[in-house]
Order: sequence, then structure tokens, then C-alpha cells
Amino acid sequence: MSGSEKWVRVASASEFEEGDVVAYDVEGEEIAIYRLEDGSFHATHNICTHEYACLSDGWLEDGVIECPLHAGRFDVRTGKGLGPPIEEDLRVFPLKLEGDDILIDMSAKG
Ligand code: FES
Repeated sequence: MSGSEKWVRVASASEFEEGDVVAYDVEGEEIAIYRLEDGSFHATHNICTHEYACLSDGWLEDGVIECPLHAGRFDVRTGKGLGPPIEEDLRVFPLKLEGDDILIDMSAKG
């Protein structure tokens, strides 16, 4: 993927508390940014792969986001769906910190 990366600044790390999940519109894509209890940041597509629900309205615990609509769960580090009703994994976006800036690689948009 090197050479085709497209890093976009999304947010300030200092605005996040541990356990926060916040929705952003990034170049027309709905993105969720997570700060886990271990302080790490992660980015995924914000729309559940089951039906239409914003994962940023769900519950984040131990790196797992639970969808607010039917309680489907995903590992936000890998996007992996963790059982029914989820059949399709969630897209994840590479994320890096530069000082206080959170940047994500929108070339993963596909
Ligand atoms: Fe997310 Fe159904 S819409 S589990």
C-alpha cells in the first residue's frame, strides 16, 4: 500500500477520553474513531455491516464495539465481526498520531 497512502487529519487526540467513540465525516465516508482504555486509537467505518446503524451510538468496552440496533459486536482493532447477527467484517482504516493530530489513511476506502 505504500506510495498510495492518503493521510487525512480527522481530529485532536486531546479531545478524547478513554473509552470514547466519535463519528466523523471524512471525505464523504462515515468514520468512527475510538480511544481504548489502553490509550490506543483506532478507526473503522461507522456503519454496521448488518443493517444501517451508527456504531458511534453503540457501546465500547475492551476494544469491542456493540451495535446499538441488534447488539452485533466488532473488534475495533481488526474490524472482525464477533458472531451473529454479524456476517461481514467491518472496514478498518490505518491511523497514526502526529503530535495531537489524529490522521487516518483514506486510501483504505477502497
Ligand atoms: Fe448492527 Fe444489526 S444493525 S447488529
